[in-house]
Amino acid sequence: MTSPTPDPAPLAAHAHRLNDGTELPAVGFGTYPLKGDDGIAAIESALRTGYRLIDSAVNYENEREVGEALRRSEVPRGQVRLATKIPGRFHAHDLALRSLADSAERLGVEQIDVALIHWPNPSRGLYREAWRALVRAQQEGLVRTIGVSNFTPAHLARVIDDTGVVPALNQVELHPYFPQEELRAEHRRLGVLTQAWSPLGKDPVPFDEPAVAQAAEAHGTTPGQVVLRWHLQLGSMPVPKAASPERQRANLDLDAVELSDDEVAAITALARTDGRRFDGDPDTHEEM
Ligand SMILES: NC(=O)c1ccc[n+]([C@@H]2O[C@H](COP(=O)([O-])OP(=O)(O)OC[C@H]3O[C@@H](n4cnc5c(N)ncnc54)[C@H](OP(=O)(O)O)[C@@H]3O)[C@@H](O)[C@H]2O)c1
Repeated sequence: MTSPTPDPAPLAAHAHRLNDGTELPAVGFGTYPLKGDDGIAAIESALRTGYRLIDSAVNYENEREVGEALRRSEVPRGQVRLATKIPGRFHAHDLALRSLADSAERLGVEQIDVALIHWPNPSRGLYREAWRALVRAQQEGLVRTIGVSNFTPAHLARVIDDTGVVPALNQVELHPYFPQEELRAEHRRLGVLTQAWSPLGKDPVPFDEPAVAQAAEAHGTTPGQVVLRWHLQLGSMPVPKAASPERQRANLDLDAVELSDDEVAAITALARTDGRRFDGDPDTHEEM
């Protein structure tokens, strides 16, 4: 076990202050599907490159790799935020608490920095119980920051009505083909940080779109950096996954790119009605 996380220190430029008073960096590191020795090496490389938020999940089956990478990196525990997610099969209150305790053990920490409900799975009707468990785990000190993932405004409203506790963040699919304007507006109204999964778009990537390619040329940077900078200027926190140190570095090196309002708007206008990467509508998509 490593020692408990000390009080948060400023982590990076553009750091976000959450509604629970904690801070997270501007960019996190996505770890799906990094596993095994290669996974440990990639996550350790990300830590050495400067990532200070590592996004994991029970269902990625890589929490032990994340903990091991942190120990090998020799980056002080107190400078890093480890995030994980409760899967659908553990939404019932006591199972959710058990899931969190098991995650802490696998990560090798006494306190989980960020814990989310991975998907609401509304047909099961148990995400409200999972949220009550997260509120309790935060009160008891097992988790520092509590949030959700793939929640719609209706799901957010229900858990807030139940407990009076507003999730600190909602990790959702967000990229130029699916910019989530209405959901982001609701997050701003509620004080919820928007965190973006598949922030680069992944498949298909929007790198050849003129709005992205022309901005990259104008700023002497890469399409990937333009897309990630677009997230920062929207107020969204991207968690890109990259296996190689070169891409990991590029995805953090965003300070030199300052997009104009018109460039941001042109990228947001790439929105498609069918912009989701797969049929991942949280009202119907279930992950256990
Ligand atoms: N909450 C959820 O339901 C949910 C769902 C999906 C994902 N996530 C989280 O979000 C993270 C990121 O999402 P994602 O992995 O789906 O998508 P992504 O980060 O947008 O894209 C990752 C892909 O882009 C490539 N890539 C990375 N940097 C690049 C660059 N600078 N230029 C060109 N290509 C680049 C990567 O290749 P290489 O790795 O080969 O470099 C990888 O194939 C996941 O790892 C996971 O932590 C959460």
